[in-house]
Amino acid sequence: MKKAHVIVDSAYVIGEIDSRIYGSFIEHIGRAVYGGIFDPGNELSDEEGFRTDVLSLTRDLRVPIVRYPGGNFVSGYNWEDGIGPLSSRPKVPDLAWLAIETNQIGVDEFVDWARKAGTEVLMAVNLGSRGGEAAKNLLEYCNFPKGTYWSDLRIQNGHSEPHAIKTWCLGNEMDGPWQIGGKTPQEYGRIACEVAKVMKWLDPTIELVACGSSNSGMPTFPQWEATVLEAAYEHVDYISMHQYYGNNENDIRNYLAKTVDMENFIQTVVATCDHVKGLKRSKKTVNICFDEWNVWYHSFPENARLKPWQEAPKFNEDIYNFEDALFVGLALITLIRHADRVKIACLAQLVNVIAPILTYKDGVIKQTIFYPYLHASTYGRGTALNCIIDSPRYDTKEFSNVNLLDCVVVSNDFEGMVTIFAVNRDADEGMDVTVSLGGFGEFSVVEHIVLANPDLKACNDEADPNRVAPSRLDVGRVEGGNLSVFFPSLSWNVVRLLVGKS
Ligand code: AHR
Repeated sequence: MKKAHVIVDSAYVIGEIDSRIYGSFIEHIGRAVYGGIFDPGNELSDEEGFRTDVLSLTRDLRVPIVRYPGGNFVSGYNWEDGIGPLSSRPKVPDLAWLAIETNQIGVDEFVDWARKAGTEVLMAVNLGSRGGEAAKNLLEYCNFPKGTYWSDLRIQNGHSEPHAIKTWCLGNEMDGPWQIGGKTPQEYGRIACEVAKVMKWLDPTIELVACGSSNSGMPTFPQWEATVLEAAYEHVDYISMHQYYGNNENDIRNYLAKTVDMENFIQTVVATCDHVKGLKRSKKTVNICFDEWNVWYHSFPENARLKPWQEAPKFNEDIYNFEDALFVGLALITLIRHADRVKIACLAQLVNVIAPILTYKDGVIKQTIFYPYLHASTYGRGTALNCIIDSPRYDTKEFSNVNLLDCVVVSNDFEGMVTIFAVNRDADEGMDVTVSLGGFGEFSVVEHIVLANPDLKACNDEADPNRVAPSRLDVGRVEGGNLSVFFPSLSWNVVRLLVGKS
């Protein structure tokens, strides 16, 4: 049996967790909007056509913010097509995904959905095929109280109160050659700066996200971030990060080590932000909005066979297995560990398209990745604490010296709870772990939730929706400030402690 020792103390503060790191994303793509959140005529939908089962799971997940309407889609989107009477909204070709967009859901309906789901909107503007004028008009439509052309049109369309959208993305993946209206960093930096200025003049309360690189493998990374921030630093609040992973080579040891890449990616973007801060002698810190992350690779072969120009086709519907849930757990640990700089993150996406929730006609499935996301969003609020992890290590074909045990600790003073999130990456055996917890006085274990499964490829489906689901494990032993607990081979663990600070 392998052993590991974790030392954590109430003084090892990384930072307050911004609950928006548990955000998600809904794009006009595949069945995310149509057939996902919106399914008029279905018995499970409410009077506005919203799927009540999806709303209810979104509320269960306590999703604090949802990015909308894209993604690549936004770079060709005319937001005006999605407002006003439904019968006069045009059907248009969506050139990002070669599909037909019916515009039956637009900004007003999405804000209504978000209110019902108990979440905020992270709105993206089109800086691909359009520019500052359209972005300014959308902001005016959403946030200006009344008495101007666009704000009065919103009122006429049935929304007397402003949508009050606080955070806005200045385009999407503008470094990507696949993007409608892709740009060089110089072109994008200049446009982002000018659009940001105007948007903040119109509504000084908003926060803005500049596009970072589409992924860490882009040839222009991280010079893209440096150039864009040199142009727009004083006008933006966040730089975006996007990254998807997969077990393409079917090597569990290497797959679970890929969060080391995510870790390095975050560290490089933080360093680049601070480099520009130094160049500018600025007092302000630009933080990270990791607004697309997930596992994405299962659906690629099926996508290649898709016929273009369909309305809401089945597209990018990755069916997640148990090993993907472990990866998502590790990614959540990585995000929490960077709570000092990662202030927003979006699991991409929420429903059907690379999502924790899948809809079918008569119900929903909680995919395997639903569970670590649920646990982190439920119990991972408060202060992120650093852990000193003394664990056996391993090498993979891409990474060396990787901890078999990865973990992070969150302390919630308000609830008097401390939660340990941990993944045992060891494919061979379980691990006896000793956690030395300082600064919290006496503590006891409330529960030990575990996600483990003998079959790495096990999925949840209509026939067996609970094949991969969490269970409770022995809570371990507490003795003299030390917790002894067992983490099974290849498992996601959530250990919840009741603390009485003394
Ligand atoms: O989330 C799916 C797509 O991935 C988004 O539209 C795009 O931004 C990214 O490449």
